[in-house]
Amino acid sequence: MGQAHLNQPIASVCYCRGRAGTPVEWASWGREGVSTAPAVGLIGIYGHGAVHLRELERLSAAGRARAVACADVRAPAGEQAAVLGRLGCRYFSDWREMLRAAPAGAGPLDMVVIASPPHLHTDMGVAAMQAGAHVLLEKPPVVTHRDFGQLLGAMARTGAACQVGFQSTGSGALGRVRQLLAKAELGDPCSFGVTGRWQRDRAYWTRAEWAGRAVLRGAQVRDGALSNPFAHASMNCLLAAGAAEPGSQLAGVEVERYRANAIEVEDTGCVRVSLVGGATFVVAVTLCAEVVERPVLRVWGASGQAGWPYEGDTVSIERGQRSWTESFARRSLAEELLDFIAGRSSRLSCPLEHCGTFVDLLEAVHAAPVYGVPGRWVSHAGTGDAERPVLAGVDAAVDAAVREGRLFSELGVPWAVAAQDQVRTAEK
Ligand SMILES: NC(=O)c1ccc[n+]([C@@H]2O[C@H](COP(=O)([O-])OP(=O)(O)OC[C@H]3O[C@@H](n4cnc5c(N)ncnc54)[C@H](O)[C@@H]3O)[C@@H](O)[C@H]2O)c1
Repeated sequence: MGQAHLNQPIASVCYCRGRAGTPVEWASWGREGVSTAPAVGLIGIYGHGAVHLRELERLSAAGRARAVACADVRAPAGEQAAVLGRLGCRYFSDWREMLRAAPAGAGPLDMVVIASPPHLHTDMGVAAMQAGAHVLLEKPPVVTHRDFGQLLGAMARTGAACQVGFQSTGSGALGRVRQLLAKAELGDPCSFGVTGRWQRDRAYWTRAEWAGRAVLRGAQVRDGALSNPFAHASMNCLLAAGAAEPGSQLAGVEVERYRANAIEVEDTGCVRVSLVGGATFVVAVTLCAEVVERPVLRVWGASGQAGWPYEGDTVSIERGQRSWTESFARRSLAEELLDFIAGRSSRLSCPLEHCGTFVDLLEAVHAAPVYGVPGRWVSHAGTGDAERPVLAGVDAAVDAAVREGRLFSELGVPWAVAAQDQVRTAEK
């Protein structure tokens, strides 16, 4: 059964710098013959920034935005240079210079997309807001309470809106999962969580100096599997459970972190989050999978189960003897922010204010120790840059943790127990 839905609004705050709810006069771009679309700058054009660059090209072609400036410490080459050329987008090697300049005589930037490493997000986000721009900030928006407070403070002072790049929040599928949980459509009791089984090789961990780091030159990076590549998993659970609105609190967070790579953070981990009201969810993930499986938000109830592979927009549901798949639309977070700041829409799928409990969770994750997995459970596949560790039995452990709501050591997963014992023995 195929259906098309848009998800339900989860925010209705308006941050227009013009009168709330009315289209802003983009006076600075009103020259005759010149596009009046908002002027957008992008920080970070490689890595995930390349995805934003393509989206800005699409929005520019549609007349929705003008990508007038970009900044990266690495000069544009290849595909990046070609796209910037087509867009007439000016390159800056210094992002502060980009914010100071008025590219192409367009006046200040109206929106800045930040796709830089996480430890740079706060300085860049605050500066962009102070320069008069609204911000689309990549996930994780911040990794500490302190940085979260600084960004919220800048929003309050400047009136800027900040949308966080958890792109699956733009999917109607999230609203459907939220409904399944809120209405107990699969029966009571109901449990949920996310399984994530990816493989990451040496090239991934060596692509940038911040990869796999907890701290870099004094800055909190916290690039663990739970906080960065699978950040979407926890955020989607919090939103699905209605535990992300401003003022929400978590009742408890229990964490286990393991590493098979020579890194400072976890490449494999699980977290059990207790919500106010008694519900819990478990997120269990690895970057050392035996077999890759896309991350899935799974729901189990007394009368059925459901799964949302959150990189896509379908929810598969089984209830009694019936099973079916529902399809949903997905909003572009950049387009949504453009509509929001222009007063054409009063909702954002992932406003920064909804990330408070996510940041609480990240703080709890990083307060937990990282256990090295003893070598006898780790094999290696591939060679050179494609070499990667494979953790024996991790796929089954990830699935069982989420299904049973238990952490790896509680399941008696041998490498989890041995890794913890090894540390306890060393401490004696
Ligand atoms: N939403 C998603 O699905 C998704 C996927 C991947 C990454 N991300 C996020 O995107 C962000 C970037 O991650 P990545 O993996 O692409 O990182 P990366 O290190 O591969 O790329 C970051 C880019 O920022 C540039 N950069 C670094 N320092 C800079 C500076 N001081 N000034 C200007 N540019 C600078 C780099 O040259 C590079 O082009 C992170 O927050 C990450 O979590 C999101």
